[in-house]
Amino acid sequence: MPSAKCRLKKTAFSFGDRHLALGIGNARRSCMMCPAKVLDMTERQIGKIDVHTHLLPGVDDGCADRQESIACARILVDAGYTHAFCTPHVWPDLPHNNVLQIEQCVHDLQAELDRAHVKLQLLSGGEMNLLSLAPGIMPLAKCQIVTYRMAGEYALFDFWAELWSDAAEVLMPVISHLQGQGLKLVLAHPERIAAVQCDDAVIDCLADMGVLLQLNSWTLTEPKDSANYRTAVRLLTEDRYFVIGTDLHKANSMAKRIDGLKVAEKLTSAGTVERLTITNPRKLAGL
Ligand SMILES: [Fe+2]
Repeated sequence: MPSAKCRLKKTAFSFGDRHLALGIGNARRSCMMCPAKVLDMTERQIGKIDVHTHLLPGVDDGCADRQESIACARILVDAGYTHAFCTPHVWPDLPHNNVLQIEQCVHDLQAELDRAHVKLQLLSGGEMNLLSLAPGIMPLAKCQIVTYRMAGEYALFDFWAELWSDAAEVLMPVISHLQGQGLKLVLAHPERIAAVQCDDAVIDCLADMGVLLQLNSWTLTEPKDSANYRTAVRLLTEDRYFVIGTDLHKANSMAKRIDGLKVAEKLTSAGTVERLTITNPRKLAGL
């Protein structure tokens, strides 16, 4: 029996309802008659899934207003995305970015997208800065921790440090604590973290702990002699990444976030990018 604080308010929208609206439910009902055709319909309606966006308007340094959110969502749809997680920054000084309020904001933005006929399915999430959230995050119940779909399975986090020694003492106990609660942790954009860029062993350490990695697509459009680009290419070609996200913030920077996917295909293969933008993100989305 969940505790009182764990009984989260349900929004009017649910993903299952959305599936029915898209016709997937009807397709599944006719499965016994024509399974091959039905599977094809379902697959076509789940395209790329953006696992890292700051689409929610006015809650962090991402989209400033609903118009910008809709503009960014349209660009995602044009690039083949059918789903996007809204992953606002979860920082101590942004207390409104919590489980309940993020879900409400996702519901509200979904209604705006529907009204604007933008066929992008939103999902809730967040990007926890674990160094700033520690140690306050430790006593929280699992249902109070911002996770993908608020499902308590996968959680996105980031940290910033010049050297691993600056972060490890605080970070490692928090990672272990959250994993002990049954969460699978996904580290956002390791290629951007100086401590990772200057020491290959950091990724090995995190991988040994079971931490999954998320590539920011746009880092592949950076100058080829930049640390961001070099680290992203190394981790991508070593097949270290679990998923790719755009980490979109503003409409005026969308082009490079989409272009980065094409660079990723050239560096690896279309199949690899499909795995990182569709197959593995579906695990986060429960699809
Ligand atoms: Fe982000």
